[in-house]
Amino acid sequence: MFRRVKGTRDILPEEILFWRKTEETCTRIFSSYGYEEIRTPLMEEFSLFCRSLGKTTEVVKKQMFEIKRGSGHLVLRPEATASIVRAYLENRLDRKRGLAKFYYVGAMFRAERQQKGRLRQFHHLGVEAIGSNSPNLDIEIISLLNRLVKELNIEGYQIYINSLGCIKDKQVLAKILHYKITPYLDNLCADCKRRFKQNVFRILDCKKPECMRIVNKLELGTDHLCDSCKKHLESVLAGLDTLGIGYKFEPALVRGLDYYTRTIFEIKHPRLGSQDALGAGGRYDNLVAEFGGPELGAIGFALGEERLLLAQSRQPQPQEPRLVTYLITLGEEADKAGVKLLDKLREQGIASDMDYTEGRSLKGKMRRADELGVRLTVIIGEDELKKGTVTLKDMVSGKQEEVKIDEVTRRLKCYEPIRAES
Ligand code: HAM
Repeated sequence: MFRRVKGTRDILPEEILFWRKTEETCTRIFSSYGYEEIRTPLMEEFSLFCRSLGKTTEVVKKQMFEIKRGSGHLVLRPEATASIVRAYLENRLDRKRGLAKFYYVGAMFRAERQQKGRLRQFHHLGVEAIGSNSPNLDIEIISLLNRLVKELNIEGYQIYINSLGCIKDKQVLAKILHYKITPYLDNLCADCKRRFKQNVFRILDCKKPECMRIVNKLELGTDHLCDSCKKHLESVLAGLDTLGIGYKFEPALVRGLDYYTRTIFEIKHPRLGSQDALGAGGRYDNLVAEFGGPELGAIGFALGEERLLLAQSRQPQPQEPRLVTYLITLGEEADKAGVKLLDKLREQGIASDMDYTEGRSLKGKMRRADELGVRLTVIIGEDELKKGTVTLKDMVSGKQEEVKIDEVTRRLKCYEPIRAES
């Protein structure tokens, strides 16, 4: 028997309603904040992510699913921010619009070590707003994140915020980190010893206890920020306070992707265990220019859909309309009449299906109709065929009546499907 690829999941019909409900809630709210849907390809050039996420990041170094064909070097996208900036520039959306606001829903791929909440194919629900440096946009984005999570009935989460500052400030922060970590260098894990040279920020989110203990001693603050970035951060935090959005300012918060500048944030939930980030995001004010476009501020976030589902405390039971009718035919000629009637019912938009199982008894077919929760069954046997009628059985009252076959569609139009029980 074939098995699914490691780190992937099958989403079965019984779960799909829950996924759809989560996506519907998020996309409704995205639209109500003025974000428009964008869909970019699942494949991109390797160099797109190398350039934006950074050559030394874990995602680029270890987690890309690469596709090499001829001279091409493609990858399955590990995230969508870089793709959207590419699409924004390639389609000249910078010329058409002022602030461009996009949302997206879709699969991402990272060859990570598998564990609870960490998959190799997972789904993002995200937004990207390109074209403004205003702190009001940061406030909008973080309040949007907060609203989504609330609307999904998720409780007990915490939003963490920090500012990396502009490119110059990030360099200052790297120097401060090198300076403060040097006395503890020998006590870092092997990975962090390497990170110290290659990408010192990554030490701050190492999960090894010995490194976490060192990070806790660093007493980081906002000293690396220039006046303009400090002012930006203060405006963002003041705006969140005005809106009553709870957050924790966390100077040791960093992100695993290199493109971030200024505001960064993460939303965590204790129910998720060690992979506790429900979502994350921040500003990437240099990325548009880095890709050859104009100097434009930008910010976004992505929520991990699988983790959103894990964190939802009261799992809503969405209801799916079921079939109105189920056709049961007895004999070859009745089958033919049934197929014709089924097509007519469906043409009229009446949710209908037919029992195609060979050799099943009338009783067995009625049992199946019951399982499906249909409103009415339409029975066509030899007697009915001769008279040009069908037997209609109301599955709620149990009453049966004979109706002319030409009359069935008109009779059934008024019925609403029975809904699945919650
Ligand atoms: P990220 O932090 O890499 O950010 O991913 C965002 C969220 O996706 C995580 O917080 C987590 O919930 C989920 N996630 C990440 N990796 C996995 C995985 N292997 N399995 C399951 N869920 C996962 C980004 O990707 C940025 N593009 C976010 C962003 C948008 N920043 C600005 N705009």
